[in-house]
Amino acid sequence: MKRISFHDRERETGEIMKILDMEPSLITFVYGPINSGKTTAISHLIKELPECYAPFYVNLRGRFITDYEDFLNVLFEIDENGGVANIAEYTRSLLKDMGAVSGIPIPINLFERIFEKKDKSKDMFKYIEQFFVEVSKTRTPILIIDELQVIGDLKIDGLLIYKLFNFFIRLTKELHLAHVFVITSDSLFIEQVYSEAMLEERCRYLLVDDFDRETTAEFLKGYGFTDGEVGVVWEYCGGKPVCLVELINRKLGGGDVKEKCEDSLKLRVSQLKDLLDLLGYVKPQVMLEGAKYDVEREHVVEIMVMLVDKDVVSFGGYRPEKQFMIKKNILFLDPKDGMVRPQSRLNLLAIREVVRNA
Ligand SMILES: Nc1ncnc2c1ncn2[C@@H]1O[C@H](COP(=O)(O)OP(=O)(O)O)[C@@H](O)[C@H]1O
Ligand SMILES: [Mg+2]
Repeated sequence: MKRISFHDRERETGEIMKILDMEPSLITFVYGPINSGKTTAISHLIKELPECYAPFYVNLRGRFITDYEDFLNVLFEIDENGGVANIAEYTRSLLKDMGAVSGIPIPINLFERIFEKKDKSKDMFKYIEQFFVEVSKTRTPILIIDELQVIGDLKIDGLLIYKLFNFFIRLTKELHLAHVFVITSDSLFIEQVYSEAMLEERCRYLLVDDFDRETTAEFLKGYGFTDGEVGVVWEYCGGKPVCLVELINRKLGGGDVKEKCEDSLKLRVSQLKDLLDLLGYVKPQVMLEGAKYDVEREHVVEIMVMLVDKDVVSFGGYRPEKQFMIKKNILFLDPKDGMVRPQSRLNLLAIREVVRNA
């Protein structure tokens, strides 16, 4: 089977390289709708980075984290052979042949020492800082945490996320020691971050969105799509990379592109109908600024009606319902402009169809 190769992301890659070229001073939040290609873009960039950088990538996606033990196990790559007392010596030996980039390497004896401590976060941050100091003697460390919202609500001795943000600020703004990238698909999380006073002026936001029409066409034509097929795909799926890859595979396997598009839309329509139906029986609750609100079915429908002749709406008004739809991955919120839009072209079409038939 033909492998689908990485496509484009030149603007995003260029922006990140510009950031890496400067002294670390801000935390970079990489955000965008689900399946827009954030993880893929970053992973691809990591592979292409010049020797002068040392990237450490941690993905919290699908990890079940309930306490420090879990978190430390995800964050660190334990080196079973590393019975070392001296971090400088350890780092030097490590950098000689560093291929793997998942997690922050730590010799097992030091890892166990952190575990024994009462205030684990203090020791964990101290180790990472020392480790980065050593790394930075020959390379620029880059810390990348994917899907950080997984630990957004985790309380161990207060919210872990605040301790992490403080540490990230220390690594960037205060010490200029390492670049820090935080990636997330969760736009409610990004919205919280955006309005968080402690992060003000200490971070920047980088949107990795679905491909635009031109990039989409270029991608598809590389796999033999006709102008007509490109038109159909754009109409149904927009530039959502995950959908494009699926459609390319369908075409390479001799299948019909339009049929696949129609099937995907039918599925999305029936999911949305189910959800609306359910809302007729139960009123889910959402938390807003510390208070609980009911999600009203009529308001959800009204939001959908607004999207019949508009592609985006403002986040203001019917906030509980908008928040609910964001949580359900139907809508995406861009905190930079306070606008809400469907997570994908398919979602937009499904919304319109459901409204039309209602
Ligand atoms: N630049 C790209 N070129 C080719 N395929 C891509 C690209 N970006 C994303 N994809 C495809 O889309 C899928 C979803 O992308 P992913 O990076 O996991 O999205 P996100 O992290 O934003 O949720 C990937 O598994 C890959 O198949
Ligand atoms: Mg991802």
